[in-house]
Amino acid sequence: MNKRKIALAIFLGLAGLILFWLFAPPSVSSANQVSTSPAAIARGEYLVIAGGCISCHRGQTEETTETLSGGLALETDFGTFYAPNITPDSDNGIGDWEAEDFLSALKHGRTPSGSFYFPAFPYRAYAGMTDEDVLDMAAYLMSLEPISYSAPDPEVPGWLFRWTVAGWNKLADISQPDLEQFDDELLARGAYLARNLGHCGECHTPRNGLGIPDFNREYAGAEIGDEVIEAISAAALEEWTTNNFDIFLLLGLKPEGEFVGGDMNEVIEHNTSKLTDEDRDALAAFFTRHHSEED
Ligand code: HEC
Ligand code: HEC
Repeated sequence: MNKRKIALAIFLGLAGLILFWLFAPPSVSSANQVSTSPAAIARGEYLVIAGGCISCHRGQTEETTETLSGGLALETDFGTFYAPNITPDSDNGIGDWEAEDFLSALKHGRTPSGSFYFPAFPYRAYAGMTDEDVLDMAAYLMSLEPISYSAPDPEVPGWLFRWTVAGWNKLADISQPDLEQFDDELLARGAYLARNLGHCGECHTPRNGLGIPDFNREYAGAEIGDEVIEAISAAALEEWTTNNFDIFLLLGLKPEGEFVGGDMNEVIEHNTSKLTDEDRDALAAFFTRHHSEED
């Protein structure tokens, strides 16, 4: 082999490795099955509430507004994305999905055919969910009445292809700092509800120019379009007691006596107000933990 051939072989080898690194299918166990047990379905229903799925996936007509038939338009700096139908309709929904499809989608942002979801679907927050929780959500979704409706395709600029998300995912992985972890059971549950299921950071954590959340400034507030979203970091919530936060999560009422507005109403209505008291306490404890640390 002459030098040029060796250089070419090395180049192709490296390019192959990089492509594999970017596009390799996620490693997801194929041993699971979506359960049909009433216990899994009931657990899944609660998790779908805690996950705020209905805020985005609810149907857009009067008859479908209580269902997950999709169609809501999400306007972002990168285009308009439509939440798809996630009822078990075989033609337009997830009727043919297996357990591993749910794990790949919710934890890795990958479609059943190996393509990439756009991060308007907050799969990076859901990535931290346990497999058991994802599979119970799947059990619940598969138990629903199928609805025949197909959401529009995303409207994105011509350069934004699904495969470009491969690079975005890797950049987001690389820039992700280690977040503070908690030994205390209540705080650990609160962190799981806030960071993963409730995906509070999707709106409240600032993003860089590529739309990657900056978790070094977790909950430091953000701007989405012309909407300003308040900080809910420890510093910002200095005046809030745990009890204040509990009442807020239940009613949307702030300590100064005002009701919250905007998209936060949806979060309160469909998600936090329907949590168990224990889970609401856990969220409140997580967000106001600096009080107890100071005492
Ligand atoms: C912030 C809005 C938002 C929330 C919250 C959300 N999703 Fe989605 N979801 C989307 C969007 C947008 C897509 C489509 C992304 C795309 O087109 O690439 C999607 C895609 C999906 C898909 C893929 C469907 C298909 O046909 O390929 C599944 C399954 C799904 N979501 C389930 C869930 C579940 C379960 C939850 C709650 C735990 C949830 N989503 C919460 C916006 C959301
Ligand atoms: C879809 C985006 C979105 C998500 C997800 C979201 N929020 Fe919000 N939040 C907002 C917006 C927008 C406001 C400001 C509303 C207003 O203008 O009154 C807000 C306001 C708040 C406030 C009031 C802050 C203040 O000082 O007035 C708190 C507290 C809060 N959110 C907590 C949470 C928690 C906890 C979660 C996760 C369970 C969460 N948010 C998830 C959009 C979101």
